[in-house]
Amino acid sequence: MKTDMSTPVVEAVGLRKTYMLGKVPVEALRGLNLRVERGEFLSILGPSGSGKSTLLNLIGALDKPTSGKLLIDGVEVSTLNDNQLTDIRRKIGFVFQFFNLIPRFTAKDNVELSMSIANMTKAERNKRAEELLTTVGLKDRMNHKPAELSGGQQQRVAIARALGNNPRFMLMDEPTGNIDSKTAHEIIELIRKLNADGVTIIMVTHDQNLAKEAKRTIQVFDGEISSDVVN
Ligand SMILES: Nc1ncnc2c1ncn2[C@@H]1O[C@H](COP(=O)(O)OP(=O)(O)OP(=O)(O)O)[C@@H](O)[C@H]1O
Ligand SMILES: [Mg+2]
Repeated sequence: MKTDMSTPVVEAVGLRKTYMLGKVPVEALRGLNLRVERGEFLSILGPSGSGKSTLLNLIGALDKPTSGKLLIDGVEVSTLNDNQLTDIRRKIGFVFQFFNLIPRFTAKDNVELSMSIANMTKAERNKRAEELLTTVGLKDRMNHKPAELSGGQQQRVAIARALGNNPRFMLMDEPTGNIDSKTAHEIIELIRKLNADGVTIIMVTHDQNLAKEAKRTIQVFDGEISSDVVN
């Protein structure tokens, strides 16, 4: 894949997503346009149901638009086959709104699982999973399963997992949504450092302390961008 520094990380043109709820169409995105450059720190705000998670899922190549174009690193996602989609997802660290941890695996196994087997030995993955869980403050919870962890702890496992492949690009849906304020502060610091190291951050958040770290804020309303300001 050929990319250069001037290619936007994300480019959405007339992006539409219509879900079918039985026979009833739900227009989640209605022709949204967005361009995100390398190294940006972007926060997405908007009321519940306005299309924020839908937008992140499309940017993360987890779902396909109904129409319009979405380019990631200059490549149009709809032209990719399954192997190419897997490759593109590996560049992206995704923190879901509802964690999506695998229940029967321990915290450490959940983190290890995301790491690409091709690039690391089992021992290296193990070591890296331990380092990442230590970074998010879960050194003493590595062998717990998700059901044995609090919501905030599960969220931190999800953040550690998203960092597994050293992503150049992070998508986060309410990364501090279920975390107490002290831990949230540590997570915010971690996200700030990632961005300072050049990782592009696109996040949905209602957390004022996190939102104010962002360098750009967009508002989504009824499936469109209603404002876009540089902070
Ligand atoms: N799989 C689905 N099938 C049908 N409708 C859906 C589906 N997923 C989302 N929707 C609808 O699409 C719209 C946008 O949903 P989305 O999850 O993107 O909202 P959101 O901005 O993330 O909201 P929240 O702040 O509550 O997380 C909503 O009206 C929602 O009900
Ligand atoms: Mg959402």
